[in-house]
Amino acid sequence: MCGIVGYTGKREAVGLLMDGLRCLEYRGYDSAGVSFFEEGRLETVKAKGRISNLEARLSGQEHCSHCGIAHTRWATHGAPSDTNSHPHTAKHLSLVHNGIIENYAQLRRELEEQGAVFVSETDTEVAARLIDSLYEGDPMEAIIRALKRLRGAFAFGIVFRDYPDRVYAVRNASPLIAARGEGESFIASDIPAILPYTKQYYILESGEMAVLTPDAIQFFDWEGHPVQKELLTSTLTVQQAEKGGYDHFMLKEIHEQPQALRDTLSPRLADGLPDFSSDGLAPDFFRGVSHIHIAACGSASYAGQVGRWAIERLARIPVTVEIASEFRYQDPILAPGDLVIVISQSGETADSLAALRLAKERGVPTLAIVNVAGSSIAREADFVLYTHAGPEIAVATTKGYSVQVGILYLIALRAALEREILPREACAGLVSRLQEALSLLPQALELEKDCSRAAQSLRDVSSMFYIGRGQDHSLSLEGALKLKEISYIQCEAYAAGELKHGTISLITQGTPVVALLTESELAAKTVSNIQEVKARGAMVIAVCLPGISLPEGLCDILITLPPLPELFAPLGAIIPLQFLAYHTACLKGCDVDKPRNLAKSVTVE
Ligand code: F6R
Repeated sequence: MCGIVGYTGKREAVGLLMDGLRCLEYRGYDSAGVSFFEEGRLETVKAKGRISNLEARLSGQEHCSHCGIAHTRWATHGAPSDTNSHPHTAKHLSLVHNGIIENYAQLRRELEEQGAVFVSETDTEVAARLIDSLYEGDPMEAIIRALKRLRGAFAFGIVFRDYPDRVYAVRNASPLIAARGEGESFIASDIPAILPYTKQYYILESGEMAVLTPDAIQFFDWEGHPVQKELLTSTLTVQQAEKGGYDHFMLKEIHEQPQALRDTLSPRLADGLPDFSSDGLAPDFFRGVSHIHIAACGSASYAGQVGRWAIERLARIPVTVEIASEFRYQDPILAPGDLVIVISQSGETADSLAALRLAKERGVPTLAIVNVAGSSIAREADFVLYTHAGPEIAVATTKGYSVQVGILYLIALRAALEREILPREACAGLVSRLQEALSLLPQALELEKDCSRAAQSLRDVSSMFYIGRGQDHSLSLEGALKLKEISYIQCEAYAAGELKHGTISLITQGTPVVALLTESELAAKTVSNIQEVKARGAMVIAVCLPGISLPEGLCDILITLPPLPELFAPLGAIIPLQFLAYHTACLKGCDVDKPRNLAKSVTVE
């Protein structure tokens, strides 16, 4: 949610900052801007809309800058516009911000009373003018005094006109890293922005600030005391953050799912059984757990829904899946013996982080399932199971979701083993079935052509449904979210048996209904529900396991999955749903990797 880059060093800064912004565009694309020193002057250029608009404004100019800051925005306070774009400038400085200043209205009133004139509607300009009003020649002092007044979540990059080779950085909650190269220093909201230049980075913690010059980075707490920090080395590669010949990151990431799942699950198998000892979990970690609360947002919560089925079925532990933004405010009933599992690809989602903190406050053990190493949720949870999907750049998650489901399957199997519900041999047998499911994923990827043909029938519709029972309902939630977020078709996921209790009134001639059938035990009932919508004119696309037979003429389009073991079928069944969403969005000419109004990492509540 908003991307920040900053640079000081030997290279030309404007080009480097623009490249950095391109790597961070997934964090927001309402506007972009850059401030840089050139011939001693601090210049600022910004533009509403995509980074390409900013590029157009900068084009035709040769730059010889060596220091600057840049920003790509996901609008919170103030509509996307040139004036509301970052950086925000004041007499002495220019500032970029990721987060929300909660007490901005009060601070703005105070500053206006002192004569400040605001040009934008943003909370960020308040921070810029506050620091500016406190500046008496020492940037650190002004920042520290301002920090005592600011409330909320923020990461800042700041440059001062008087110090044309320095970048100042501050973190409170919103993520920020600082990185070192030879004769150069960087800040960024995420690692891909610095990868072409260096792999050496530091994670700024909340309550810390940094002063960057070409030769060094110094870290301080908010009282100005020096802080020693550990230099980390990223294992990501530049190639991982590129499209690699695919038209879109989303398509590349769909195809990466078999590998991502293997990378995530294989290190957690020992003698054919699930084993989390290398993650620091005791051999009886799940044995005494009496209730699992899964807290997550969006697709991560839908992964949790699929996981719930497996954990309850295999390990007989009751599981509730809570939307993280609700969990926090509903005064959840957490008892001794409970475990809170927080699931997050980015590890920075503000609501999921808040849910984690609440669980910790209540003294309940917390386990995080996170993809991004060193992210806030990973660092704050009592235990963390990393998924190894690699960087996910497309805003709509695909491989990030699948690896979450995969690791939840391992948790279900491990818990069943520890609780002696599954004997070792039976557990090993199910692990083999899980591996069999993984080996069939390449066949599921071959369904792309069928899905792109099916997408032809969706390009002009304005609303549609996904239906399924049991794990298929959980899966349909994710299928529907994928379709609506990237193709902008109003789409509802419904438990197949529930449709007739009201919503079936929305089915008219030609309404598309995608029906999922991966559980043979429930298939007959789902078939009846399909008959009900068919009788009312629905156009039915069925996604079905080969062992489940459907009456002749029941569906208009049939997508037959590979012969996946039923228990783990969601791992393969999600793939055609992702393709269906992807190809529908492409046919409609939508911006697949950067859907409107969205951002990848939602660091505001
Ligand atoms: C949808 C999607 C979102 C995320 C949600 C949580 O395609 O990507 O719904 O799943 O914003 O994000 P993380 O997993 O980073 O906490």
